[in-house]
Amino acid sequence: MKLLILNGPNLGLLGTREPEIYGSETLAGMMARAVAFAASRNAEAEWRQSDIEGELVAWIGGARGAFDGIVINPAAYTHTSVALRDALSGCGVPAVEVHLSNVHRREPFRHTSLTAAACVGQVMGFGADGYRLAIEGLLNWLTNNRGK
Ligand code: DQA
Repeated sequence: MKLLILNGPNLGLLGTREPEIYGSETLAGMMARAVAFAASRNAEAEWRQSDIEGELVAWIGGARGAFDGIVINPAAYTHTSVALRDALSGCGVPAVEVHLSNVHRREPFRHTSLTAAACVGQVMGFGADGYRLAIEGLLNWLTNNRGK
């Protein structure tokens, strides 16, 4: 299995960005652990980050045929992006949405996800461990549902 892990805007600032909410680990550190976890499950994972909505849309659009599944933290675009939702709905590759924080315990504008309905599942509130949980869930989902 080959997974694409996508990270949206401002996640490149993890480590110094609002550590009281997101912790002090860098994105590179989190992704190294996620890639290693995928490998421990005999899956290959590649990760990317962009602050640019269109770049994320293009990566999702290019995933068909290249990846079996997508793990995505769309960050702020979660709450605003019809383009990302349409990309996830249309790409034909199952996705799981991840948030480091529990967005439902935060400001009301974070309570709506435009992207979640285009995903097979969502994980939030467990910090970087959410990527591991999402990979685990997605690999199980792919084993049970792919081709159905
Ligand atoms: C986030 C939650 C979003 O509301 C926020 O805009 C982010 C990070 C999270 O991982 O908790 O940038 O996606």
